[in-house]
Amino acid sequence: MDPLQSPMTVTKNPEPSTAPLAGKTALVTGASRGIGRAIAEHLARAGARIAIHYHTRAEDARATRTALAGSGHRLFPADLGQAEERRRLIGEVLSDMEGPHILVNNAGLYRLTPLLEAPETVWLRDFEDLLNVNLIAPAHLACLCAHVMTERGIRGRIINIGSRGAFRGEPEAPGYGAAKAGLHALTQSLALALGPHHIAVMAIAPGWVGTDMAKPHLEGPRGPSILAQSPLGRAARPEEVAALALYLAGEDAEYATGSVVDLNGASYLR
Ligand SMILES: NC(=O)c1ccc[n+]([C@@H]2O[C@H](COP(=O)([O-])OP(=O)(O)OC[C@H]3O[C@@H](n4cnc5c(N)ncnc54)[C@H](OP(=O)(O)O)[C@@H]3O)[C@@H](O)[C@H]2O)c1
Repeated sequence: MDPLQSPMTVTKNPEPSTAPLAGKTALVTGASRGIGRAIAEHLARAGARIAIHYHTRAEDARATRTALAGSGHRLFPADLGQAEERRRLIGEVLSDMEGPHILVNNAGLYRLTPLLEAPETVWLRDFEDLLNVNLIAPAHLACLCAHVMTERGIRGRIINIGSRGAFRGEPEAPGYGAAKAGLHALTQSLALALGPHHIAVMAIAPGWVGTDMAKPHLEGPRGPSILAQSPLGRAARPEEVAALALYLAGEDAEYATGSVVDLNGASYLR
């Protein structure tokens, strides 16, 4: 018998390593549904404990927790449009959990307010709300978490969910487009500022994704033309965004810091 073929000498594949995010805490904002829930599920499957942030949908947030692999996940409600709520959120996460090692700024608001159709006061209110939730809140959370990460010597990750709309323009939701463009620019600035502390900062810029936010558009009269924007003829699934977020949260992705990664099915090529 060829000794190389004997059962004693057959080379086996190595045992699977421990979960890549074991021992890490990830704060995922807007994890009650949509892309945030999918990201929470992916990170939890990789071993992370999830701080599940939500705003109004407590029942959906509980359903997210039930769906997560592992244990130790906690729920944290907060209106991210309010600075005091953001401070309270981070304070509660710090007192209940370790880390945070990973911050995913996912929560977002989309509102149609065309410049020439909405009354000026409504337009301004919406513009301010969109900037507040989609840009100022992620910036403030990043600031709060970066302080904690540097004080605790955590080689952290900050992942911002941006949008293709930042590049392509959002004629009916200019506040949304402006906020997401700002979020991409913020990602680059923070990557430079926090790189020396080994905190990597990245953004994902999805095109249309099949969630509550997009449903009225995808299922409305413009649906077919929206889907036709991609040569794949479809919108993204939340899980596809989550798979990219999982990669960016992992050890191997530190050098992707400063990146704004397109995930738009070739519907818009920069
Ligand atoms: N869907 C798309 O086509 C698409 C495309 C590009 C980028 N994105 C971005 O991807 C991210 C997730 O979008 P999604 O499609 O998953 O959205 P979604 O299904 O509408 O969910 C929005 C999430 O944000 C939370 N949220 C909204 N306003 C908030 C506030 N004031 N304070 C705290 N949390 C708030 C919601 O909490 P509650 O449920 O508890 O109220 C919910 O968890 C957003 O940043 C969005 O801009 C989405």
